[in-house]
Amino acid sequence: MRGSSLFAAIAVFILSHSVEALYPINDLAVTPAMGWDNWNAFGCSVNENLLLSTAEKIAALGLRDVGYQYIVLDDCWSLGRDKEGKLQYDPAKFPNGMKYVADQLHSLGFRFGMYSDAGTYTCGHYAGSLGHETQDAETFASWDVDYLKYDNCFNEGLSGTAKITSERYRTMSDALNATGRSILYSMCNWGEDYPWKWAQTIANSWRMSGDIYDSFDRPDPRCPCTGDEGYECAFPGFHCSAMNILNKAAAFIHTSAPGAWNDLDMLEVGNGGMDDEEYKAHFSMWAALKSPLLMGNDVRVMDAKSLSILNNPAVLAVSQDPVGSPAIRRWRYYVNDTDAYGQGEIQMWSGRLSGGDQLVVLLNAGNSTRSMNATLADIFYDFGPEGTAPEVKQGWDIHDLWANRMDYATAQSVLDGNATSNVTRFYYNSTKTSYKDGLAANNTLLLGKLTGTVEADGVIEMEVPRHGVAMMRLRKHS
Ligand SMILES: *[C@@H]1O[C@H](CO)[C@@H](O)[C@H](O)[C@H]1NC(C)=O
Ligand SMILES: *[C@@H]1O[C@H](CO)[C@@H](O)[C@H](O)[C@H]1NC(C)=O
Ligand SMILES: *[C@@H]1O[C@H](CO)[C@@H](O)[C@H](O)[C@H]1NC(C)=O
Ligand SMILES: *[C@@H]1O[C@H](CO)[C@@H](O)[C@H](O)[C@H]1NC(C)=O
Ligand SMILES: *[C@@H]1O[C@H](CO)[C@@H](O)[C@H](O)[C@H]1NC(C)=O
Ligand SMILES: *[C@@H]1O[C@H](CO)[C@@H](O)[C@H](O)[C@H]1NC(C)=O
Ligand SMILES: *[C@@H]1O[C@H](CO)[C@@H](O)[C@H](O)[C@H]1NC(C)=O
Ligand SMILES: *[C@@H]1O[C@H](CO)[C@@H](O)[C@H](O)[C@H]1NC(C)=O
Repeated sequence: MRGSSLFAAIAVFILSHSVEALYPINDLAVTPAMGWDNWNAFGCSVNENLLLSTAEKIAALGLRDVGYQYIVLDDCWSLGRDKEGKLQYDPAKFPNGMKYVADQLHSLGFRFGMYSDAGTYTCGHYAGSLGHETQDAETFASWDVDYLKYDNCFNEGLSGTAKITSERYRTMSDALNATGRSILYSMCNWGEDYPWKWAQTIANSWRMSGDIYDSFDRPDPRCPCTGDEGYECAFPGFHCSAMNILNKAAAFIHTSAPGAWNDLDMLEVGNGGMDDEEYKAHFSMWAALKSPLLMGNDVRVMDAKSLSILNNPAVLAVSQDPVGSPAIRRWRYYVNDTDAYGQGEIQMWSGRLSGGDQLVVLLNAGNSTRSMNATLADIFYDFGPEGTAPEVKQGWDIHDLWANRMDYATAQSVLDGNATSNVTRFYYNSTKTSYKDGLAANNTLLLGKLTGTVEADGVIEMEVPRHGVAMMRLRKHS
C-alpha cells in the first residue's frame, strides 16, 4: 500500500512539474500572472487617465520589466447595454473608448485586463455577463483585451454544487476560446464550490477565498472561516486577512500547476495597513505559493519600502520559477506570544525550484522576534519520509532571498526620478531575459545572498522578526 501510494505520489510529482501548461485551455499563465489591478486602492473610481498614468508610472519605476505586465481594469467601467445588447463603456470615464486604452497599453508594453461578472449584475450593480457570454466575449476581443477577471455577484443562486458553478464559469471560458484571441481567464468566485477541484480545465486562475483586506491577521466576522476548518470551508466572505487566506490555501495549494493557479487575491503592499515585515511576509508567501501577483496600491504615491518589496528579483524568481510548484506547509505550531487579536503561530513551508534548488520559508506570526529552525528531513519530506530522502544526506548552500533587497535610499531616488545608473544592480529585466533563462544562467540578482551552509542531516536556524519571514533558496554544494 505504502509502495503504491508513493509511486502515485511520484507520478503526480512528475506530471505537475512539466514546464508547459498542464491543463492547456490556452498558452497563457505558464507562470503566475503579474500586474496591477485598481480595486484595492481605488474601488469604483476608474477612468482612462488612472489606467494610463499608472501604466506609465509602473514602467518608469522599472516594474513593467520586472514582470508586472497586466493592467487590470476592475468593476464600474460600464454603462449597461445598447439596443443590440452590446456592453457600453461609460464615455465620461473612457472618452476614447476601450480599444484606445488597449492600444495605448500595448504601445507601452503592457497587456489589458477587463472585468465582468458571471451574474445578472456585477458587484457594483453594473450589467453582468450571465446569459450574454458569447456577445460579451466578442466585445472584449474586439477591444483587444488580454485578460478577463470574472466575478461572482448576483449569480441568481446558480451555485451550491461544483457542477452548477463550473458550468456557469465554463460558458465564458468557451466563449473566450471561440473568439480566437488568447485571453487570460481569471475566475473570481471566491473559492465557492471548491474551484481547486475542477477549475484547472476552465480557467488560468481561480480565487480560493473571500476578498483580502489590508491586515496581517486581524479576524473579521465577515470572513468567518479561519482556515482551521481546512478544506470544507465554504463561506467566502470578505475582509480576509493575509494569514486567514494563507491558512485556507494550505490544504489545497498543491492543486496549482503551470497554466492553472490558485489565486490568493491581489496584493495589499503599499496600502498602509501592515508594517514592512508584514508586507514582506505577505509578498513572500504569495510568491512562494505561486499566486498571481497583482499590485493593489496607488503606484503614483508609492513609498520606498513598498518599491523595494515589489521589485525584489530574488523573490520574483521564486514566483516565476519555470517548475511552477507551489510551496507546501510542512508544519504549523501555535505559540503563546499572541498579538492584540489573540493570534500567534509559526510555520515552515518548502517547495521545489528549478535546477534542483529548494525553497524554504520560515514564517513567524508570533508577536516577537524569535529564533526558528527547519530540519532538512522536514524540508525534503516529500522526497522520502523521516529523513530518508537522498537530499537530506548532502550539504546545501543557503541563499537569503531578502538580504540583497534594494536599500530605501536607492528606492527613494527611483521614486524621485533621480536614480543613478547604479540602480540596475537591484533590477532584473525579465522583458530582456525571462526568469527561466536567467535562472538557468545563474543570474546573481535572482539568487539572493549566499549566507551560509547546512550539512547533511542538518538544521537551518534563522532569526525571524515578528510577523515576518526568513525566505531561503537551498542549492547543492557545488
Ligand atoms: C481553445 O482551446 C483549445 C483546446 O483547449 C486550445 O488548444 C486553444 O489554444 C484555445 N484557443 C484560444 C484562443 O484560447
Ligand atoms: C503556552 O502556555 C501554556 C499555558 O500556560 C503552556 O502550558 C504551554 O507550555 C506554553 N507553550 C509554549 C510553547 O510556551
Ligand atoms: C505585540 O507586539 C507589539 C509590537 O511589539 C506590542 O506593541 C504589543 O504590546 C504586543 N501585544 C501583546 C498582546 O503582547
Ligand atoms: C527548533 O525549534 C523548536 C520549536 O521552536 C525548538 O523547540 C527547538 O529547540 C529548536 N531547535 C534548535 C536546534 O534550535
Ligand atoms: C532627488 O530628487 C529629490 C526630490 O526632488 C530631491 O529632494 C533630492 O535632493 C534629489 N537628489 C539628488 C541626489 O539629486
Ligand atoms: C555605486 O555603488 C557603489 C557601490 O555601492 C558606490 O561605491 C558608488 O559610489 C555608487 N555610484 C554612484 C554614482 O552612486
Ligand atoms: C529591459 O529590456 C528591454 C529589452 O531589451 C528594454 O527595451 C528596456 O528598456 C529594459 N528596461 C529597463 C528598465 O532597463
Ligand atoms: C549554475 O550553477 C549550478 C550550481 O552551481 C551549476 O551546476 C551550473 O552548471 C551553473 N550553470 C551555468 C550556466 O553556469
